[in-house]
This record gives sequence, structure tokens and C-alpha cells, in this order.
Amino acid sequence: MRFVNLDALTYAGNLENVAGLTDQPNYSFELGDITDSVLVERLFDLYKFDAVVHFAAESHVDRSITDPTTFVRTNVDGTIVLLQAARNNWKAGQGLFHHVSTDEVFGTLGPTGLFTLNSPYAPRSPYAASKASADHLVRSFGATYGLPYLITNTSNNYGPYQFPEKLIPLVLNNARQRIPIPVYGKGDNVRDWLFVEDHCAALEIVLFQGSIGSTYLIGGSQESSNLGLVKALLDVYDEKTGQASGHSQSLISFVQDRAGHDFRYAIDSSETQKELGWSPQHSLIEGLKKTVDWYMKHSSWLSNILDDSYRTYYKSQYDNR
Ligand code: DAU
Repeated sequence: MRFVNLDALTYAGNLENVAGLTDQPNYSFELGDITDSVLVERLFDLYKFDAVVHFAAESHVDRSITDPTTFVRTNVDGTIVLLQAARNNWKAGQGLFHHVSTDEVFGTLGPTGLFTLNSPYAPRSPYAASKASADHLVRSFGATYGLPYLITNTSNNYGPYQFPEKLIPLVLNNARQRIPIPVYGKGDNVRDWLFVEDHCAALEIVLFQGSIGSTYLIGGSQESSNLGLVKALLDVYDEKTGQASGHSQSLISFVQDRAGHDFRYAIDSSETQKELGWSPQHSLIEGLKKTVDWYMKHSSWLSNILDDSYRTYYKSQYDNR
């Protein structure tokens, strides 16, 4: 099996993240943008793909609030480019298009209840709306052109290599630098946390065993309020860095809430678990411990990825090959 990784290496991308793969004979990296239809058609022609796993997205809600257009460009226009290439290059019923999506397409929950396969689409941020649009486009290609597809809607990921704009790596980065840790509002919003390796295991099972035309919900079943999460994370961090318990909590700083901040996400993945035999292997605390270990071991990665000149250097290494 051959793998081709197409990535635009924008601000959160970093070739160092896939450095361990470069020497693998069945792996190729292609630098490019999914909105570039000429490039995408060329790659379909070159590699004769039999499946596309579409992870490529602008994914940070705060950025979508300040710059929604970029989200529509990548997440909607980019998805239609990939879908059109699949339609042009695969005969009806051939190939497999897997869209990796988010639970945010379902909007926000109150204090109880779970997102299920029957939850209506109700996105509330430009990011979520762009992912919902992409889900709808994928399903429309299934119904209209017979494109075989799978969709996965997933809860909050965390773990190694996550860009420090998302809550967990941001907390670790700020704790390391001893700078304030911003908690939006009162910190009582709730997220369902999924360790990234559990997500990847689910994606692999869905890709190879999922029923064509189906949607699978993938969640960690590990809910926490943001404040509870930040405190738990800082406790792990303090313990692992040999500091007194509670030491880093003084860095917590309550700041203005995110506009339209979804109150709670929580996903019912029991159907996926029943049909495919997948279940998350990490409790939140186990996942946080692994994550803290990884970031402590890779502290230079954390500072490097925030350094534009470093990323430009890595990108130019590829350009100059
Ligand atoms: O639910 C899945 C989604 O989870 C993914 O589709 C998104 O791509 C991903 O970014 C994530 O969205 P969130 O907005 O939930 O993740 P984020 O890490 O930005 O924020 C998690 C929670 O923490 C959220 O309630 C906002 C809050 N927060 C976030 C940041 C960055 C803070 O309180 N302070 C912060 O500095």
C-alpha cells in the first residue's frame, strides 16, 4: 500500500512532524493546496489513488471568527476540488472518499444529552459551518454521482504534535514560559476529549471496515469543563516538572469569552463501537500524562513550530529538493 501526503504546510504544518516517514519506500510527500484543481488532478493521474482520506482543513475556531473567508476557501472550495477530481478519475462506484469531520457540525449541547447520528446539523461558528458544508457536499456526491464515501465526526483531539493554538498545547506552552494561561469566560464550557492515537485507530478501522455511505461518530467519552481540564493538566505538569502541587494554577487568567462560544460537545460513539469494535483506549488522565511527557521531551519542537523562520527553513528544504 502506498501513501501520498498532500499538505500546503501553512502556519500549523511542519515537515519535521513527518520526518520519520520520509525514508519509507511507500510514502511520498507532495507540497500543495487542495484548492489547486490542476495540482489535484495531476496527482490523481500520477498516483492513481484508490482512496482519499480528507483531513485537510483550517480547524481553529478562533481563527474562523477573525477570518472566515479562509475557512470557506480551504474547507469548502478545497473539498469540492477533491470531490470533483474523484468524480473525474473514478468510475461510478469506484474509489473511496473519507471525509474527516467534526462534532461541531451539530452545534452546541446543554448540560445533558449527547450528539447522535440523528442530531440535526446546526453549526454556529464559521469553522463549523464550513465543515458542515463539506459534509453535505460529500453526501451529495454520493447521492448524485454514486461516489463511495465515509464521514467521521469526531470530538476534541489532543496529544503529540498539536499546534499550540489549541487549548491543551497552549496551556503547556504557557506553563513552560510561565506566562498567563487564558481561560475563556468562566471556564465552564465542556468538551469531550479524545487522545489522537485513539482517533487514528478509529479512522483506520472506519476506512477499512466501514460501510460505504455511512457516517461514524468518534468520541473520547471523556468530558471535562475547560477549567477542570486546565487544572488537571497543570497538576500533571507540576508533578512531572517537580513543582509543588497547584504551583502553575496561579497562571490561570480568565479572559473575555469566545464569540458564540458553544457550551458543550459530547458524542455518543456507541454505534461505532458496536459495529466496528473500536473504543478509545485512553482515559483523560492517561492521555494528559502521555501528552505532557511528549511536550516535555520535545520542548524544542514547541518553540520551533512557533518560529516562522524555522518553518520557512523546513519548507525551503522541500522546495529545494
Ligand atoms: O470538537 C472538535 C473540535 O475541537 C475540532 O473540530 C476543532 O478543529 C478543534 O479546534 C476543537 O475546537 P474547540 O474550539 O473546542 O477547541 P479549542 O482547543 O480551541 O478550545 C477548547 C475549549 O477551550 C473551548 O471551549 C475554548 C476554550 N479555550 C480555548 C483556547 C484556545 C480557552 O478557554 N482558552 C484558550 O486559549
